[in-house]
Amino acid sequence: MNIQKNISLKPLNTFGIDTIAKQFITVSTINELEEVIKETPSFFILGGGSNILFTKEIIPFVIHLNLKGTNILNYSDDDVFVKVAAGEAWHSFVLWCIEHRFGGLENLSLIPGNVGASPIQNIGAYGVEVKDTIVEVETLEISTLKKHIFLNTECQFGYRDSIFKKELKGKHIITSVIFKLTSKNHILNTAYGAIGEALSEKGITKPTIKDISDAVISIRESKLPNPSAIGNGGSFFKNPVISTQHFKELQKKYINIPHYSIAESEVKIPAGWLIEQAGFKGIKKGNTGVHSKQALVIVNYGNAKGIEILELANEIQDIIFKMFNISLEIEVNII
Ligand code: EPU
Repeated sequence: MNIQKNISLKPLNTFGIDTIAKQFITVSTINELEEVIKETPSFFILGGGSNILFTKEIIPFVIHLNLKGTNILNYSDDDVFVKVAAGEAWHSFVLWCIEHRFGGLENLSLIPGNVGASPIQNIGAYGVEVKDTIVEVETLEISTLKKHIFLNTECQFGYRDSIFKKELKGKHIITSVIFKLTSKNHILNTAYGAIGEALSEKGITKPTIKDISDAVISIRESKLPNPSAIGNGGSFFKNPVISTQHFKELQKKYINIPHYSIAESEVKIPAGWLIEQAGFKGIKKGNTGVHSKQALVIVNYGNAKGIEILELANEIQDIIFKMFNISLEIEVNII
């Protein structure tokens, strides 16, 4: 086993936090992963590092998951089943799908992170969630080292949520994911406002999956900071869901409050709007701040400590609660 000592995790998390791994090992096969787990009582699993905020200065043992492989399992005239190892980069996989003309993930272009993390928080963007294409998730159970298969229905997918964030949190390691994609008759999702606008600006009336992917990439690039330039973890909070009654009260004061109906009794409010109303959009506080083009993204302008970012997030939560009586739930994992 090639265990390295005192490794900085700065290049391995998109927030760019300089936390130290006392011991660090990269594993490239499931066998290696099993070996390490057998000999290590406690460890932290690091994948793409894109949805994590390190607030601890030191992490005793880090296993960096680097399982690779993308395999077509079954191809028919209508659809295709693809098995992808957890350590494959999400966006590279999406581009691979576009190249092979496999549809279903084009709206999820340019999301940072690895394939193995995609089911955990059920990544979503521009009207599509990854749960729409996942057939099954393969895992290694940490306590028994047994392999498990979770069918889509067993994953308890919800908005930025799954069983792997709830009762199975920290109990299983996702090793691969099987997706069902379309090989023709793609179901295109262009309803999300900004996609429609981007396509019509280019005069595209009959978009291909590549056109949609390109549109999503340009929208994301215009709104979201590139983590290699400005550290961030994407949306820091979830969009809150409130009761329709609560919403109606808020609407009396804030006539233009944006909202999406979830059910008759529930309404989802964009957290970015709440944060902008509270005056945080574009602010800079020491090494941290709120992105100037998307208030849901908290950024590291340089050498921020994780704790400084968390303090800013907590301040935002307090003010939003006072102003709107809404509790913002943090979406990134705080370690
Ligand atoms: N808004 C503002 N000010 C802002 C940002 C947003 O007023 O600074 C309002 C606007 O009304 C806007 C609405 O919020 O129309 C929605 O904004 P946007 O389309 O940017 O989406 P979002 O709800 O803020 C969610 C996801 C993003 C995903 C986008 C696009 C969550 C927590 N975030 O953001 O996901 O890319 O939709 O589908 O659901 C991520 O999870 O890391 C992420 C980036």
